[in-house]
Amino acid sequence: MVEDIYRVGILTLSDKGARGEREDKSGPLLEELISPIGCVARYQIIADERDKIVMMLKSWVDDLQLDLIVTTGGTGLSPRDVTPQATQEVLDYDVPGMSEAMRTASFIITPRAMLSRAVVGVRQQTLIVNLPGSPKAARETFEVLLPVLPHALAKLKGDSADCGVSEDR
Ligand code: MTE
Repeated sequence: MVEDIYRVGILTLSDKGARGEREDKSGPLLEELISPIGCVARYQIIADERDKIVMMLKSWVDDLQLDLIVTTGGTGLSPRDVTPQATQEVLDYDVPGMSEAMRTASFIITPRAMLSRAVVGVRQQTLIVNLPGSPKAARETFEVLLPVLPHALAKLKGDSADCGVSEDR
């Protein structure tokens, strides 16, 4: 049972999107997917600039204390793909199981899943999740995490209940 509605930030990383040359379809899609457990408090499209990404992530955590930040795009191998490096710079610790699960599930769909360097981790009490940029890839990866997000976010907020037997353990 979902008891809390979490405050979410969606950050789309795309040079073309930031210049207004490409419509962002992944951001709105993620807003829809998260809606059962979260409301979107911030949504931004910015260019693939490491310093800007770091600044935005820090501000959304340190100033706004969002519960969850989902980024989309910039996780691949092109020279402009810097989302994982920027994210790593702000994290207190990684949550490797979540990124491993996304890649493992995605690899069954496409071997190209191994090209996403997406990381998941925590800064203060905010979970930060990188997703690939295409709407298809964003959906396929985020759907892997959705079932465990309420539990993960509750734990981050300090829920001390035992992780015992329950439907969504
Ligand atoms: N994961 C899933 N589930 N489905 C996909 O179609 N595309 C891959 C990969 N992960 C894909 C996926 C591809 S083609 C790339 S290049 C990388 O994600 C990185 O994408 P990004 O640079 O848009 O972040």
